[in-house]
Amino acid sequence: MTSLPANWQAIVLGATGALGGAFVEVLRAAPGAHRILAFGRTSQHFTLEDEDSIAALAREAAPDGPYHLVIDATGALEIDGIGPEKRLDQLDAQRLARAFQVNAIGPALLLKHFVPLLPMSGRSIFATLSARVGSIGANEKGGWYGYRASKAARNMLLQTAAIEVCRRRPEAVFLALQPGTVRSRFSAPYITDGTALMPADAAGRLLEVMDQSPATRKAAFLDYRGEKVAW
Ligand SMILES: NC(=O)c1ccc[n+]([C@@H]2O[C@H](COP(=O)([O-])OP(=O)(O)OC[C@H]3O[C@@H](n4cnc5c(N)ncnc54)[C@H](OP(=O)(O)O)[C@@H]3O)[C@@H](O)[C@H]2O)c1
Repeated sequence: MTSLPANWQAIVLGATGALGGAFVEVLRAAPGAHRILAFGRTSQHFTLEDEDSIAALAREAAPDGPYHLVIDATGALEIDGIGPEKRLDQLDAQRLARAFQVNAIGPALLLKHFVPLLPMSGRSIFATLSARVGSIGANEKGGWYGYRASKAARNMLLQTAAIEVCRRRPEAVFLALQPGTVRSRFSAPYITDGTALMPADAAGRLLEVMDQSPATRKAAFLDYRGEKVAW
């Protein structure tokens, strides 16, 4: 992460996931890293559904801060064992609420509690894993209602936070990232050919994108090649 100051520190949330774990491995091997904290649901008992558990995690990290890079790699497509809705007649209020809880509200609470751990001055990066299917502008196929809508909401919450935070931290970079199709527990049922990326490959490419992204006082929605995705 050559764009970050010397002895930079990072936090990865969702470190028990395929992409989260890959970020931790790549970052721990990166030159100049001073401390990489890896937080996962099973290892730290935090859940996106419980703000107190998120606040406790941030309190635990705070004394060793600030952190120049925070990556939120949490998210779910199948929730409570149920896959995405394909048709309007499959919509269910409880399922939609759960998608928003896991993919938008929980990540918003991660922003609330981890943004204060970014440095007040100098470059810093907060990246959240979004998905191309969360793009309203690029939605050509329909389907996956709850996942699409909750990722679009995650993007809006990030953008709104970016505008607020960058008034005081003009060098902070906020990114919604599309990792590509990556081999993971999450994507396994939906991968139909051999083109999916390995998690370490995707994580390496996304870190390059993060490193190269300028501070613009607004969030950007980028894919793993650094190309803009329509909001
Ligand atoms: N894989 C792909 O092809 C792909 C494509 C587009 C976007 N994405 C996005 O990339 C992100 C990571 O995906 P992945 O493929 O690495 O999936 P993954 O291996 O299933 O990892 C998901 C992570 O989110 C955590 N998580 C899920 N629900 C949680 C909850 N309620 N509370 C706390 N933690 C929770 C999981 O914790 P546990 O390990 O404890 O379950 C895990 O650490 C997701 O946001 C996903 O939408 C992935």
